[in-house]
Amino acid sequence: MKAFLLIALSLLAGVSHTARADDTIERGRYLSVAADCVACHTSPKQGKPYAGGYAIASPLGEIWASNITPSTSHGIGNYTEADFAKAVREGVRKDGAHLYPAMPYTSYAKLTDEDIHALYVYFMQAVAPVDEEARTTELPFPFSVRSSMAVWNLLFLDKTPFKPDPAQSAQWNRGAYLVEGLAHCSSCHSPRGLMMQEVGGKAFAGGSLGDWYAPNITSHPISGIGGWTDDELAQYLKTGRVEGKGQAGGGMAEAVSNSLSKLRDDDISAIVTYLRTVPAVADKDATRAAFAWGDAATAPGEPAIRGTDAPIASGAVLYSGLCASCHGSRGEGSNDGYYPSLVHNSTVGMVRPQNLVATIIGGIDREVDGKHVVMPHFSEGSYVQALSDADIAAVASYVRTTFGPGDQVTAAQVALIRDGGEKPLLAKIARLWLPLLILALAAFVVVILLVRRAWTRRKQRRASA
Ligand code: HEC
Ligand code: HEC
Ligand code: HEC
Repeated sequence: MKAFLLIALSLLAGVSHTARADDTIERGRYLSVAADCVACHTSPKQGKPYAGGYAIASPLGEIWASNITPSTSHGIGNYTEADFAKAVREGVRKDGAHLYPAMPYTSYAKLTDEDIHALYVYFMQAVAPVDEEARTTELPFPFSVRSSMAVWNLLFLDKTPFKPDPAQSAQWNRGAYLVEGLAHCSSCHSPRGLMMQEVGGKAFAGGSLGDWYAPNITSHPISGIGGWTDDELAQYLKTGRVEGKGQAGGGMAEAVSNSLSKLRDDDISAIVTYLRTVPAVADKDATRAAFAWGDAATAPGEPAIRGTDAPIASGAVLYSGLCASCHGSRGEGSNDGYYPSLVHNSTVGMVRPQNLVATIIGGIDREVDGKHVVMPHFSEGSYVQALSDADIAAVASYVRTTFGPGDQVTAAQVALIRDGGEKPLLAKIARLWLPLLILALAAFVVVILLVRRAWTRRKQRRASA
């Protein structure tokens, strides 16, 4: 009888032990979704989950995400939990090499030990190992020197763990943890400085991603999202669309598809609660909220040939031929709301025409709950029509003047966006790096020589005195 009880007890303990392990795996899975690890670590071309093969187009060159399956030959199968924590929070690989901050460890630095543990258990126990080598990153010199990132980290990596603010609600603190840490919103939405670091004091004021621009999402009513209701923000994050406000394209479509649409409602509410309190940062060029431009009632319905304004005239023709069938001739959208209106559309009304142009170049492809939202692209290989830079400039100018803030888009602007957008200063001066280094070395040698001469002179003077 005693033996029987013992067996029963140990069985029970075993069951509760595996139940606890399952809970941890499930928690780790959810955290990996909130952190969107899959977005970068899985090839978009039907890649095996977490086997790498996705290139992040950094202005300095392509950075390939690693295989982070528990494969011992090609993945992170040999990582201990401490190694894993160091890679995810500090950007240092098991072999000691530094990762590039394309891996958002500057945000993940906020993750708690508990969450790192759950993520580790999930990756080691529930992700299938893939014994395939991910492509390696080869950046041009001097960025090929990974140890230079140690200096960068010293300057820009804030290793302080997340500290809940006792003056705020639990919901606000959860939101802060998600926005600042796991969901790494700032990695796209914050402006970057000379050294590609996120600029302090301007958090969430908008950041360039190359071709796309992640807009200002501070609480500012005109420059940011202060004019959105809580429900609208929650709906945008969960579905990627709010009629009369905006849709999610580019990197935001990916964030919604892979991550935000799969979060629990309480986490979405927490994110919204926190966003509301992000200090407002004004954009001096914004005179009206991005979503507040345009009026379908007064928009010209038919292509209007406007005197000598040739690009607008041909833009109007292109619009009615290529866009009006879905978005309506007055930009009113379709009745069922599937095709969004272009009046009261933040992409059309943003200070920069960048995302409008990026939408025409790349189209939209977003999947939420198994449902695809697709707008065709108008580049090479389009099933509708491939447009030249000049054509895109013309139709974008028509859309901006008729439904938006009224500026003209030039073919040169389109060409730049097609080419991946404005390169930051760092990439531009990188080409000058070697000559600069040689100059600096030469200057250093000259200084040393001068100091030595002064020194010997002084010694000679002393000796003769
Ligand atoms: C925005 C893109 C992005 C996201 C999101 C991302 N990673 Fe990464 N990760 C990268 C890139 C790029 C590298 C390789 C960087 C390099 O080679 O310097 C990398 C490298 C790593 C490495 C180092 C592996 C090795 O030995 O090379 C680990 C571990 C890792 N990521 C884990 C994670 C985990 C866990 C998550 C989610 C919590 C995650 N990553 C989310 C882009 C990303
Ligand atoms: C991979 C980059 C990326 C990440 C990560 C990202 N965003 Fe975005 N976000 C964008 C881009 C790009 C747009 C513009 C989309 C468009 O115009 O179609 C955008 C648009 C938005 C908008 C709409 C703003 C407007 O005025 O139309 C909100 C709100 C937003 N993001 C919130 C968030 C939050 C909150 C997070 C983190 C939970 C987040 N984003 C993470 C790139 C990103
Ligand atoms: C076949 C139908 C179709 C055509 C043709 C079409 N669109 Fe769209 N468009 C869509 C759909 C679908 C969406 C995405 C709706 C969503 O995100 O929920 C969209 C979204 C947009 C957006 C918002 C994108 C964002 O990131 O927020 C803009 C701007 C836009 N279209 C402009 C245009 C212009 C300009 C043209 C003509 C050059 C055009 N569209 C042609 C269907 C179409």
